[in-house]
Amino acid sequence: MSRLDSFIRRMTAQRDILNQVAAQGLLPETGDILELGLGNGRTYSHLVELFAQRRIIAFDRALMAHGSCIPADGNLILGEIAETALAFSGSEAAMAHADIGSGSDDIDAVTVQWLPQVMVGVLASGGIALSGLPLQSASLTQLPIPPGIDSQRYFLYRKI
Ligand SMILES: C[S@@+](CC[C@H](N)C(=O)[O-])C[C@H]1O[C@@H](n2cnc3c(N)ncnc32)[C@H](O)[C@@H]1O
Repeated sequence: MSRLDSFIRRMTAQRDILNQVAAQGLLPETGDILELGLGNGRTYSHLVELFAQRRIIAFDRALMAHGSCIPADGNLILGEIAETALAFSGSEAAMAHADIGSGSDDIDAVTVQWLPQVMVGVLASGGIALSGLPLQSASLTQLPIPPGIDSQRYFLYRKI
């Protein structure tokens, strides 16, 4: 598969699953949304459209987002997510989305060791975890994703 096709597949999966989360009302009634890996901010922009009433807090190593996708003061947390997200442990977030796959199996193998614990730590019970990397945790139950999305491309869970 070309890198262009792979990129389109990832973005399509994100958009379709986020749309499903919104349309099916899967989020708990209260709680913030954490966007782990702001990047260019395209997904952040979609989150803002879908969940305008929620506080959306974005994380990244450095600010590289398009000017229209820069979170308000206090809603952008810069640094290594494995460290910065610890301050949000227990914050009872309604959803955490992580698009931090690197395309390198070696790097991703390290990320999947710490990411599930971070996601579980920040989420409220009943909160939604969405990730481009699989999250192995006894505290997360996998949820179905929309038809047509490869089940190994994007992963949707609810915290027990
Ligand atoms: C694939 S991009 C996210 C793209 C984003 N969904 C968008 O719409 O533009 C991944 C981002 O996560 C950040 N990132 C990856 N691993 C990280 C880590 N461990 N700590 C902080 N930021 C990280 C990278 O700097 C990059 O900006």
